[in-house]
Amino acid sequence: MPLRGTVHIADDADSVIAATASWIATCSATAIADHGRFTVALPGGTTPRALYARLTQAPFNDTIEWPLWHVYFGDERACAPTDEASNYNLAQQMLLSKVNISESHVFRMHGEAENLDSAARDYSEMLSTTLPHTHGVPQLDCIILGLGEDGHTASLFPGSPALDVSTPYATTSTAPYPPHPRITLTFPVLNAATNVAFMVVGAQKRNALHLVETDEAPAAQVHGTGTLTWFMDRAAAEQLTAQGHEQPTGK
Ligand code: 6PG
Repeated sequence: MPLRGTVHIADDADSVIAATASWIATCSATAIADHGRFTVALPGGTTPRALYARLTQAPFNDTIEWPLWHVYFGDERACAPTDEASNYNLAQQMLLSKVNISESHVFRMHGEAENLDSAARDYSEMLSTTLPHTHGVPQLDCIILGLGEDGHTASLFPGSPALDVSTPYATTSTAPYPPHPRITLTFPVLNAATNVAFMVVGAQKRNALHLVETDEAPAAQVHGTGTLTWFMDRAAAEQLTAQGHEQPTGK
């Protein structure tokens, strides 16, 4: 069956990044107009590097109301916040240190903790106390996600017990590649968000997208009450079931 949500297929990676950045800016402006702030969970992996760089450039650097952003994370590796493997470190180096966001508005997962389970519970508690709730679940305005080649998203890997966790809203998991221990948001939080977007770039993600279409991948479980949008390039979209995809988006 076709992917759930709205699918934007862009010509190349740069166009995926540009389209995602525009989408984030729109989500930010809408949320701020509605309730005076923008709460967003940033993704992990390597694809976000180009997205963060794009957000520090015109027009976004000047048009986004950065002081009203409250930044969370979809997942984190078991490492120090200064480690190059840290998802927080990538965001801090490429975006958070370059725009006007107060440190008090950045809520990182403590991957450096001795007890990762305790750090995950603390993060779940923090989500509950800093966010509004919908149907009893903390609700973010926006969550941006990546897609792994095995169909995982955040650190919700195939076969992981984390896939079945409903509360707490953050838990630990184990990646099949280093750094193995992880903290990750759980599906109820992903599915409570007002807007969710996946960024999928490269031919190596074709099979993962097919697994999502056939409901065989963890990422297929992300379809909540909010909007769901897929930003991908042609290379990744090659095997997708034909459906009314949005036209390719230019840079
Ligand atoms: C992580 C991510 C993970 C990532 C995907 C895609 O911590 O690794 O949260 O879910 O988003 O594996 O990663 P790439 O963007 O590097 O392809």
